[in-house]
Amino acid sequence: MTVPSRWEQGHHGYGARFAQLLKDGVDITGEARLADTLLPRGGTVLDAGCGMGRIAAALEAAGHDAYGVDLDAELLEQAGRTYPALPVAELRLEDVSPDSLAAQEFPTSYDLIVCVGNVMVFLAERSERNVLRALRSVITDRGRLLVGFHQGGVNPASRSYPAEEFIADAEASGWQLESRFATYDLRPEPGEDSFFVGILRAA
Ligand SMILES: C[S@@+](CC[C@H](N)C(=O)[O-])C[C@H]1O[C@@H](n2cnc3c(N)ncnc32)[C@H](O)[C@@H]1O
Repeated sequence: MTVPSRWEQGHHGYGARFAQLLKDGVDITGEARLADTLLPRGGTVLDAGCGMGRIAAALEAAGHDAYGVDLDAELLEQAGRTYPALPVAELRLEDVSPDSLAAQEFPTSYDLIVCVGNVMVFLAERSERNVLRALRSVITDRGRLLVGFHQGGVNPASRSYPAEEFIADAEASGWQLESRFATYDLRPEPGEDSFFVGILRAA
């Protein structure tokens, strides 16, 4: 039986908020600029929990082959309307595998996986290691994972996820922490909101 994610248990307004930010011309691609530096030119990137597609779309615009997966059909529909050329598919992160991606006609391995925008604090309870293992199964030998989330969670539906616990989960799931920061412009000092940015490689 599939355990519902925390995302499916809460009401968010995320899609409408990002549609408005886009309309207002606000910068919504900071995470993508960091992701771009982690990719070879013309790299292959999977946006894991892509939501309305803003990060994958920015990476596609930067010349990469970007693909998005998410469980939220409504947000995927928004991604399709907003970025018609972006390939997105409805897939739970715990079900990511070479076979499930091939079934969507997506590549089966990636130079970079981005899992940003608090996806990690909205996963189903106790599914974090399954998700991290699933993502590990589709990374190239020298590929990396970019993760970012608020350690304290972002709303009552989300969990608090201390960085040390995340790092232990990642290490138990075939990843090794390469670097950690507190912001996407790579500041090391934790701010008041205790944001965590991690760059990991396959162990
Ligand atoms: C706050 S949104 C962030 C979306 C996007 N990464 C961004 O930064 O704009 C969190 C996303 O995580 C997705 N999500 C949560 N648990 C998931 C799971 N188990 N499988 C796939 N997507 C998941 C939700 O559907 C939602 O789109």
